[in-house]
Amino acid sequence: MADQEKRDWNSTAAGWKKWHAVSEKAAHSATENMLDMAGVSGGDRVIDFATGLGDTAIACARRVGDAGHVYATDAAVAMLEFAEDYASEQGLTNVSFSRADFNDLVVDQNAFDAGICRWGLMFAADLVSSLRSIRCLLRPGGTFAAIVWGPPERADVHTLSNTVLMETLGETPIPTGKGTPFALCDREELEGRFASAGFTNVESQVVSVVHEFQSAEDYARYRKERSSIGKRISHRSQADQDRAWAAVVDAAHERARPDHSVRFVSETIVVAGQNAVQQYF
Ligand SMILES: C[S@@+](CC[C@H](N)C(=O)[O-])C[C@H]1O[C@@H](n2cnc3c(N)ncnc32)[C@H](O)[C@@H]1O
Repeated sequence: MADQEKRDWNSTAAGWKKWHAVSEKAAHSATENMLDMAGVSGGDRVIDFATGLGDTAIACARRVGDAGHVYATDAAVAMLEFAEDYASEQGLTNVSFSRADFNDLVVDQNAFDAGICRWGLMFAADLVSSLRSIRCLLRPGGTFAAIVWGPPERADVHTLSNTVLMETLGETPIPTGKGTPFALCDREELEGRFASAGFTNVESQVVSVVHEFQSAEDYARYRKERSSIGKRISHRSQADQDRAWAAVVDAAHERARPDHSVRFVSETIVVAGQNAVQQYF
């Protein structure tokens, strides 16, 4: 991970922490799906890549139980610090945290029964190379499952704010290609990359995530504090920035329910592949 990216993730960690309850509620069912597709069960040794605040590692640690262990990794120290505190608050002793960059993995062959990664793979510099290293970390028959965002036009929780901010200020749209959250939104291409990295039995599912906010203002705060999109307009005057964020609130208001709450349904892809069981002839 480049130094600038590390700074970006470390600087958004506080916002992630603040909005933790909203994001975790939204991600719950997709996460359980990912753990199912990775075949995680009692006693397993699992590696979690780009764990962020550690929610996936914690959900996984509950599944593997005391006989298993989860090795949670991320490249951003500020995320890992929160994750470690959170796991110990939950009284979990079967999860450990360490710094690791999935662009540069040290491969200890066949060490894990399963691997998982939620909303991280999109940031891989060379996806197939990272996937190959991840596969080599699994025992024969072990499965790796990941969650990535679907197409931007079906990931409203990001796209509403991104579009309104840039349109209001007449700025060019925020890119959605390589290195962005939408880099892997083509399901067929994603499965192809898993196959190119040597995974077998590759499969994927589309799963909806539902973000619920108490108000349009809360949605705008969530986007402002938890993402780095504000940086895209930081060269504009404070008045312009305020006007753009006010436009985001107005746009979110349009979909508010009678109790003022706002709901976003977005599409994610859960993909999984297996490290082939070796055949001896
Ligand atoms: C969108 S967040 C997802 C965090 C967490 N998995 C979740 O779903 O809540 C992306 C995470 O990927 C991590 N990340 C980005 N690039 C990485 C890399 N090259 N190696 C390891 N972690 C990386 C960031 O530090 C951040 O925690």
